[in-house]
Amino acid sequence: MENTNASSDIIDNIFTDESQIPEQFRIPEIHQREYLLNGELVQWDGDVTEVLSPVYIKTADGLKRKLVGTIPHTTPKESMEALDAAVAAYNNGQGVWPTMSVDDRIKCMQKFVYLMIQQRDLVIKLLMWEIGKTLGDSTKEFDRTVEYINATIDALKDLDRESSRFQEAEGTIAQIRRAPLGVVLSMGPFNYPLNEIFTTLIPALIMGNTILFKLPKHGVLAHYPLLQAFKEAFPAGTVNTLYGKGSEIISPLMESGKVNVLAFIGTSKVANGLKKLHPKVNRLRAILSLDAKNAAIVTKNADLDVAVSECILGSLSFNGQRCTALKLIFVQKDVADEFVKKLAAAVAALKPGLPWDKDVKITPVPEADKPAYLKACLDDAIANGAKIINENGGYANNSFVFPSVVYPVNDKMTLYHEEQFGPIVPVVPFDTIEEPIDYQINASHGMQVSIFSNDPMEVANLIDPFVNLVSRVNINCQSQRGPDVFPFTGRKDSAEGTLSVFDALRSFSIRSLVATKATDANKQLFNTIVRDHDSNFLSTDYIF
Ligand code: G3H
Repeated sequence: MENTNASSDIIDNIFTDESQIPEQFRIPEIHQREYLLNGELVQWDGDVTEVLSPVYIKTADGLKRKLVGTIPHTTPKESMEALDAAVAAYNNGQGVWPTMSVDDRIKCMQKFVYLMIQQRDLVIKLLMWEIGKTLGDSTKEFDRTVEYINATIDALKDLDRESSRFQEAEGTIAQIRRAPLGVVLSMGPFNYPLNEIFTTLIPALIMGNTILFKLPKHGVLAHYPLLQAFKEAFPAGTVNTLYGKGSEIISPLMESGKVNVLAFIGTSKVANGLKKLHPKVNRLRAILSLDAKNAAIVTKNADLDVAVSECILGSLSFNGQRCTALKLIFVQKDVADEFVKKLAAAVAALKPGLPWDKDVKITPVPEADKPAYLKACLDDAIANGAKIINENGGYANNSFVFPSVVYPVNDKMTLYHEEQFGPIVPVVPFDTIEEPIDYQINASHGMQVSIFSNDPMEVANLIDPFVNLVSRVNINCQSQRGPDVFPFTGRKDSAEGTLSVFDALRSFSIRSLVATKATDANKQLFNTIVRDHDSNFLSTDYIF
């Protein structure tokens, strides 16, 4: 059989010169000199920031990160202008967008999706170049986002149909609908720069809120081709973009007290800092997806082949850079040797390469400081008694780091506690099942767990404690966010609020009702308003 293991030679030569990159994946430099403000693509003449790819290129002067382009580095002044535009477009709930009928808002969103799809190829290419995501995963990210928008439209139709009737209780008639909250500040992470931002931005928008949309630290240019679609599809001021350093441009927005909803995917430390800046915290709703270090628990009753393949998917898809990734694997001592042997062999066989390479599994990472951080984690684990047990584990070439299976890991090591968010698979041996339960009890986070066992009694005995410690218990499969119709949330420092296609519509809205005493005169009044279509809220129109 062909030996598919990554030799250090392949890693040493992972970066090529530009001529070796297949034609269809090459991209001209893109220099973005505009941003979306109040319905206009406003020209930017100020400072710009270089967008450097995690992919290095061989040049006469050695390896250099490929320049993908440049982006505006906007300042607090532009942030405040964007805030003013969003506040004016909302206009205390009297603006064109928040008062528009649900049917018309849906039509705007459908126009946006139509225009977005025209940009599919370019956005996918930019995802590959900007964050090093494989062609398959970049394509999936784009298509999943389109499906998410379409599913959101369908969910809103359902919600609206349920609300398009009157309810009567104790002599009172009411129509109850969900209404917008105001200005939403949406900020997402670099690992899903399109999908994760859109899973808050789209539901927030379609519910009638106006948006300030801060681009992530990597994956900014991937949004550039979509700005025109936002401009064409939605009324002026409904969506406004913000570029630059979060610490500079976001603080004044929060301090203004004019942000009604903070939709943030990142660390709990940053989220807490931002919330505290708001002068009236009670007026701020927060929808947050934060820290996580999901554990896998492999017991002596597990199918080890299933456990290995799911743990590889869970810990190393997109190089481990997923909030939902499995970041610590507990294995019962009876099967630990066999499990780590199989795991190490499977990791060693993962194909390293560039995002467009066929069957590539491990690619360069976009955060410039990540390789050094990963090395420090490995050094710390080794100093505390662990070993890297797979071939080429930790072998690096600039932004590329081959994954390591680290064993045996214990609670003295950084890898036991910190969210590595990269290609390291720490494995902790345990005797009794109380040990991984204690880990979860003492952890500051509580998103998901994956349990690997085929013993029904054992699985049942683990399900019951874990459902109260995390928000999703996966049995014999990796942890993940999808399907997107399922609730995605977490306990402790992992989340605030719940996102799913349906839950997100609720998260970004509040129920508002129109009520009256059920007298003949009031019934007549309501009937006339409904018959003449005088109100977008008080209406029995049914959206097909
Ligand atoms: O980074 C966190 C993402 O929401 C994970 O989504 O589990 O579908 O990869 P995923």
